[in-house]
Amino acid sequence: MEEENIHHANHGYLLHGARICSVFLSKMVELPMKTGAPVRASIIFFLILLIGAFISLHWFDVVPPAISDISLQKTILPSNSSNTYLVGINCSITCPIHSLATIKSDESSSSGMCPEYFRWIHQDLNPWKEKGITKEMVESAGSKAHMRIVVVNGRVYWKKLRWVYQTRDVFNIWGILQLLRLYPGKLPDLDIMFECGDKPVIQKSDYGRSNANNVTPMFHYCGSDSTLDIVFPDWSFWGWPELQIKPWEALRKDLEAGNKRVKWIDRIPYAYWKGNPRVGLVRNELLKCNLTDTHDWGALIYDLNWGLARQGRDKSTDLAKQCTHRYKIYIEGFAWSVSEKYILACDSMSLLVTPHYYDFFTRSLLPSIHYWPINENNMCKSIKSAVNWGNKHPQQVQEIGKAGSKFIQEELKMKNVYDYMFHLLYGYGKLLKYKPTVPEGSVEVCLETMACSGPELEKTFKMSSSVSGPADTSPCTMPPPYDPTTLQSFLERKSNLAKQVERWEASENR
Ligand SMILES: *[C@@H]1O[C@H](CO)[C@@H](O)[C@H](O)[C@H]1NC(C)=O
Ligand SMILES: *[C@@H]1O[C@H](CO)[C@@H](O)[C@H](O)[C@H]1NC(C)=O
Ligand SMILES: *[C@@H]1O[C@H](CO)[C@@H](O)[C@H](O)[C@H]1NC(C)=O
Repeated sequence: MEEENIHHANHGYLLHGARICSVFLSKMVELPMKTGAPVRASIIFFLILLIGAFISLHWFDVVPPAISDISLQKTILPSNSSNTYLVGINCSITCPIHSLATIKSDESSSSGMCPEYFRWIHQDLNPWKEKGITKEMVESAGSKAHMRIVVVNGRVYWKKLRWVYQTRDVFNIWGILQLLRLYPGKLPDLDIMFECGDKPVIQKSDYGRSNANNVTPMFHYCGSDSTLDIVFPDWSFWGWPELQIKPWEALRKDLEAGNKRVKWIDRIPYAYWKGNPRVGLVRNELLKCNLTDTHDWGALIYDLNWGLARQGRDKSTDLAKQCTHRYKIYIEGFAWSVSEKYILACDSMSLLVTPHYYDFFTRSLLPSIHYWPINENNMCKSIKSAVNWGNKHPQQVQEIGKAGSKFIQEELKMKNVYDYMFHLLYGYGKLLKYKPTVPEGSVEVCLETMACSGPELEKTFKMSSSVSGPADTSPCTMPPPYDPTTLQSFLERKSNLAKQVERWEASENR
């Protein structure tokens, strides 16, 4: 992940924001009911507030180009359409009494088979398949987890256990609230421990034969071959305000449109990477592959200025405008990187530097089908071979680029992300051997308490990523688990495809 080493002191504004918002709204509501001088006084007060708010926001400085006009309109202009939430949500510091569990939606039509990568859900839950999950196992995650999320009868409780970087926790909980709105009454009660850092934390090696049935269940953004963390979609699907990266559904469409700007053949015939090289040694190595007067490795490497990016002043970080090179490099930082979906979505062939971590969808990506593998131990040379091969085989490269984008554009639509969360949480909830209860020290969260808190951009993102109501269709149908033979043949296919790439590269270098 990108900028783990920079600390922010922006936690703690949550309740504060909610309170301001509720005061503000209740003023609007009460105004017409008062009479005489107090009305005039409060109208004047209200106007001063409003003008002050606009001046202090420097509207156009603060709102980066990455936010579409549509989401802006939703924020500022009152609207009467049913999916804009300012009209639908009454900001409050307490959750309303109605329970989501009671709003059972009608039997809706099914939406077909889930994408293949959903099969990894079975794999991730496998350690508990035989014996289930006890409360002790869940609570044993408490020493490492950042938060505990408990769902009882459709109501959500959040207990913050440790300080979390930026707003990762906030946006993940927001995502879970949206899921419950999308499929009300369909999820069982839940008790989840969540790790919001970069690296997975549950080591396989800690669970030998004697305690193999006692694995600590921990939700996290990524996993690796040596860990047992349960992989869950990261916060960025609902927005990453600190880096001005808007919610995925809107960004996905921008990327789709951005792809049409420059045809592959007209793109710069180089491999492109832009990011923070100070996280992880491999990224630092990547700097050496940059084009110089003396060396041409076929790569252009840029150091992203995080200060400017965070203020939204570096307009070249607009992701939808970054599809200008024929090849795009993906390289891990401290662990997996949120950027993978943005890179794959460009229609350019992605060059994946040997990944060591996976997130919930990447295990089903295949070399030479969706991407081109780059050997981390021989990076510059490997990139050079890929670019040379690619410029000589434009047809194949475009197919690989398109297949990568198609995977992201179709299999990673928000509907699928929600369905993935649904099936994972459903499967997890069924494994719990106890009835979850509200933990001491937790707070109840709901749209009303979360929607209005945080800085402007955070609220904008929450707004534009909120679902409009219960889905018309049920979640997709889960594919069956991999049996050992199918899994084996899948892994063999993957490894054979990688070997084929090596052969192509060898023939290129001959
Ligand atoms: C809602 O907005 C549409 C135009 O966007 C307008 O035609 C309609 O009358 C409005 N409805 C209400 C109830 O204000
Ligand atoms: C919002 O909620 C408050 C108390 O929770 C209530 O008094 C007020 O009438 C509500 N406003 C609207 C517009 O529903
Ligand atoms: C890489 O090379 C390009 C073109 O020469 C240059 O603009 C860029 O600043 C270089 N990147 C780094 C990190 O030095």
